[in-house]
Amino acid sequence: MHADTLITNIGQLHTLISQNGPKTGQALEETGLLEDAAIAICDGMIKAVGKSSEFEAAYTWDECIDAKGKLALPGFVDCHTHPVFVHTRENEFAMRLAGKSYVEIAQAGGGIRSTITTTRHASEDQLFELASRRIHRMIALGTTTIEAKSGYGLDTESELKQLRVIKRLNEELPIDIVPTFMGAHEFPTEYKNNHAAYLEILCKEMIPAVAEQGIAEFCDIFTEAHVYSLDETRKVLGCAKEHGLKLKMHADEIEPMGGAELAAELGCISADHLGKTGTKGIIALRAAGVIPVLLPATLFSLRSKSYADAQQMQEKGLPIAIATDYNPGSCNCDSLPFTITLACLQMGLSPAAGLNAATLNAAYAIDRGARIGSLEPGKQADVTLWDIPGIDFIPYHFGSSHLCRVIKQGKTVFSA
Ligand code: NIG
Ligand code: FE
Repeated sequence: MHADTLITNIGQLHTLISQNGPKTGQALEETGLLEDAAIAICDGMIKAVGKSSEFEAAYTWDECIDAKGKLALPGFVDCHTHPVFVHTRENEFAMRLAGKSYVEIAQAGGGIRSTITTTRHASEDQLFELASRRIHRMIALGTTTIEAKSGYGLDTESELKQLRVIKRLNEELPIDIVPTFMGAHEFPTEYKNNHAAYLEILCKEMIPAVAEQGIAEFCDIFTEAHVYSLDETRKVLGCAKEHGLKLKMHADEIEPMGGAELAAELGCISADHLGKTGTKGIIALRAAGVIPVLLPATLFSLRSKSYADAQQMQEKGLPIAIATDYNPGSCNCDSLPFTITLACLQMGLSPAAGLNAATLNAAYAIDRGARIGSLEPGKQADVTLWDIPGIDFIPYHFGSSHLCRVIKQGKTVFSA
């Protein structure tokens, strides 16, 4: 048998294979460990996974990567990011340290609206260069697929410009990027006292244009007391659904307002944040099959004491996913390994559950569960190699990286 690439001598290979869809309950604790393993890759896809000694005898190959006993995992899937913007907002970090809240800063002219001002005026090349540097850092931390949102333009042309940049990033960088339209990230200043007029633009102009151009797969919205109400969310996501977009929601991040219940009612693929979601919301998500995407780095960065109730979610059988929420305001964190550390320390997930949440379940949260997120035949050969004794080491040793190599569709795209 022939393979384009053979990865041999893998000390521990954690396949993260699931029997049936995203992992819940006890399955979140399982990693599918194989020792002395190998992966055979053809056309960027995994052809077979098995014993290293047997594969060396059975296969011929064009390229052989000797893993020298290292640990292999599926590439991370960062299923919630906002990487296309111009200026960073470390001034707001300092304001939060001085006691101001995220909402107070937003209402005083900071927040998302401040990012709008520079993003609207930026050229596509400038946005591409800036986002490209950010995404290369993510790759160097083991991420091989991201979801990326617009939402810093908030007028039709600026939103489409961001989505074109995301499309070009997907074409030119060695990572898969799944595009989400988020024109309902905030109300732009010119419509802050006329929500109805902006909703009209969203539903009559932006969503139809995005759908017509086929430039986004999902539509997301910031449902929160100071931005979109539940009724406004119904309008926007109802319209997005009619136009064939799949739905996501930022829900219950800062205030408990029934966002999770609404995500269930609307049939969202995921509800993200959920820091303030209680038992009722958790039951609704479970019943509707909505994936909870938990973003503990955001709550950490906002100095919140109230993390999502991941333990109850796991007990009740929800397929927990985690993501960074990388953005210039509430969370300038591009590291899924560090996010797993927070998921363990602040939300009580085990290291195994954290890993499953940042790979396989995150893939399902962006409708890519059949293609990525685990190491099994028929999936993309997105593999990371780590110089660590076991998976617990990833959340345990936070703040530095033991990643040695990132392989995207069979090609090495980062090595340390
Ligand atoms: O997920 N919630 C909305 N968006 C981001 C914040 C974006 C920003 O502050 O620029 C979030 O927290
Ligand atoms: Fe977000």
